[in-house]
Amino acid sequence: MADVAKKASSERLVRILPEALQAIHEVIRKHQVTEEEWLAVLDFLTEVGNQDEFVLLSDVTKTSVLVDSITHEDESGVTPSDVEGPLYREDPPWRERPVKIYEEYEGVETGDVLFVHGKVTSTDGAPISGAVLDIWQTGPDGGYDLWDERQPDYNFRGRFGVDEDGSYEFQTMVPKPYTIPTDGPVGRLLEATGQHPWRPAHIHFKVEEEGHEPLITQVFFPDDPYLDNDTIGAVKSALVRPLSKRENEEELTRRGLDAPFYTCEFDITLMPAMSAARA
Ligand code: BEZ
Ligand code: FE
Repeated sequence: MADVAKKASSERLVRILPEALQAIHEVIRKHQVTEEEWLAVLDFLTEVGNQDEFVLLSDVTKTSVLVDSITHEDESGVTPSDVEGPLYREDPPWRERPVKIYEEYEGVETGDVLFVHGKVTSTDGAPISGAVLDIWQTGPDGGYDLWDERQPDYNFRGRFGVDEDGSYEFQTMVPKPYTIPTDGPVGRLLEATGQHPWRPAHIHFKVEEEGHEPLITQVFFPDDPYLDNDTIGAVKSALVRPLSKRENEEELTRRGLDAPFYTCEFDITLMPAMSAARA
């Protein structure tokens, strides 16, 4: 089986690589690229590799979004997939119910509490009680835990299971737009080409269950200034979910909060696993 896969991938390489090279050669010829310029390209790519920025490069050139959309183009009736990006961290903490994916820290008070809730179901509408959600996002300001020294490690990250009926809820804070890392070679490329580094506010979801295809996606919010010009081009209208403001005293007391908060509903539909569909 491994040999068959190896042969198929080498056949694809033999078919695709010459076309890719031909396309690059045509551009070089058309623009009469000089030796100096080509060496600068090679230096740039070397630095991208040395600084581990190839995923970022794939993202800002919108290549990640293109490949993701080709991979998932036949999946009607399921929640749209979206790119993972380079800021996922393996082994996030398991969060017990009631799920809250952050700890308090100096600066957290600048944001608004948000409860995201929904139901995970299969394409036939049946709840997926064994689904596990893995969430990551920025804080209300200052970006990801990786960059924001005020935040505890793994803040605004977490994994948790859904209820028997497929429903889930977690407490987080409303994220804000932020810039992707700009201090490396990819940042210099953006500056040189006049591409801004901003992403609209979003929450990343990874959803897994044995009998279903895994889903990686993102949720966005209306009225964000970068919805129409995300620097990685990852916004899909079906993933833009309204925020609803709650300020009713009784609800505030029930949640143990003393300031208005927001809720957002995001139902998730997964596709039965390919192997299950073939059986
Ligand atoms: C992110 O959403 O975390 C992200 C995606 C692509 C590049 C950089 C960051
Ligand atoms: Fe992100």
